[in-house]
Amino acid sequence: MTAIFFSELKDELQRGIHKKGHPFRCGTLATVGLETLPRLRTVVLRKVSEDLKLHIYTDKRSKKLIHIKENNKVSMLFYHPKQMLQIKVEGLAHIITDESILKKYWSGVQPNSRKDYTTENIPGSKISNPNQVEYLDEENHFCIIEIEPFRIEYLKLKRPNHIRVQFSKSEASWNGEFLVP
Ligand SMILES: Cc1cc2nc3c(=O)[nH]c(=O)nc-3n(C[C@H](O)[C@H](O)[C@H](O)COP(=O)(O)O)c2cc1C
Repeated sequence: MTAIFFSELKDELQRGIHKKGHPFRCGTLATVGLETLPRLRTVVLRKVSEDLKLHIYTDKRSKKLIHIKENNKVSMLFYHPKQMLQIKVEGLAHIITDESILKKYWSGVQPNSRKDYTTENIPGSKISNPNQVEYLDEENHFCIIEIEPFRIEYLKLKRPNHIRVQFSKSEASWNGEFLVP
């Protein structure tokens, strides 16, 4: 009975990649490093595989990478305001370091967007003026975070009943249970 909600959340996540303006194009990624303060940030969802692994592009010098190296348990949150649908994903983050894979995806990054991964100084460094940022010509710090989900929660607010379902992965299959909303 929960399978229909699993298909819906999977379809919506995949639509986030392909449908212009879909609210799941961006999500909130939460990490917790050694200092135990949760850190949240908006990221663009780049790929959703058949088995629901999520890809995010980032600069490998960013704080989120430091957190993931310290603790690779992460969460992602997506919200679709028209459908009042919230998807929470909990999973293990893996940093893709294979140069041939990175090269393949880097070649698909638009020239304008390449600046996001080629600042001379580390992202988050202090500057006195936004025009002061210098960019590297030859190298880049592009990397891909792959999130392998182990728990996903679906919540839809609607009348007469809100619907909340928790899906947990065991082996290769997902088991769903309804929860009190
Ligand atoms: C609309 C939007 C989309 C963003 N997409 C990304 C993204 O795909 N990857 C990324 O690393 N940062 C992205 N950012 C910037 C992050 O929110 C964040 O400021 C940055 O990655 C630094 O985070 P950190 O210091 O916690 O690592 C985006 C910001 C906005 C507002």
